[in-house]
Amino acid sequence: MGYSLVPYISQAEIAAAVQQLAKQIDQDYAGQSLVIVAVLKGAFVFVADLVRQLRSPIQRIELLRLSSYGAATTSSGQVQVLVGLDAAAIAQQPVLLVEDIVDTGRSTAVALNLLRDCYPASVKLCSLLDKPARRTTPVQIDYLGITVEDRFIVGYGLDWNERHRELPAIYAVKQESATAVEGRLDSAK
Ligand code: IMP
Ligand code: MG
Repeated sequence: MGYSLVPYISQAEIAAAVQQLAKQIDQDYAGQSLVIVAVLKGAFVFVADLVRQLRSPIQRIELLRLSSYGAATTSSGQVQVLVGLDAAAIAQQPVLLVEDIVDTGRSTAVALNLLRDCYPASVKLCSLLDKPARRTTPVQIDYLGITVEDRFIVGYGLDWNERHRELPAIYAVKQESATAVEGRLDSAK
């Protein structure tokens, strides 16, 4: 089916949100050496920008890989752990979990449970985006960038069936009828 990408959150808005988040985190952690745990794949762009804005010392950056969507635009409900955590890296450390988006909340809840099994000193959640309309599992977002509507979005790490993660801004996917609209994606880059 054809689709087009409609501009939704600009690079400038994203950059401002990232800067604001880094500022809040720096204030709260004042001098503590943080362990950052990013949830792959979606958070890879955000975490790269966030860590370069933080002034707090970072002890290490750990990567957790979860999968929930498959090729669909709504979550399958099944969260698979594709790459787990190194418990020794987490134990007794202040941990900041970094997510791209909290949608149903299921994968964040799984990530938080995995983290707690590693006995960190503390865990806080930072998510660039929040889509509260679809929440089924409540999660507390300690540091939130931007709240979004119930639309499927891509870019800045977010994919649709693995595509469009590389876009520097965020776009809403607009599904169109059978007539494919080739070429429009190029204009979105
Ligand atoms: P959950 O439904 O909160 O478990 O969301 C799990 C993951 O689905 C997120 O970390 C994203 O990677 C992905 N996701 C949720 N909403 C969107 C979206 O609008 N576009 C692309 N990926 C999404
Ligand atoms: Mg995804």
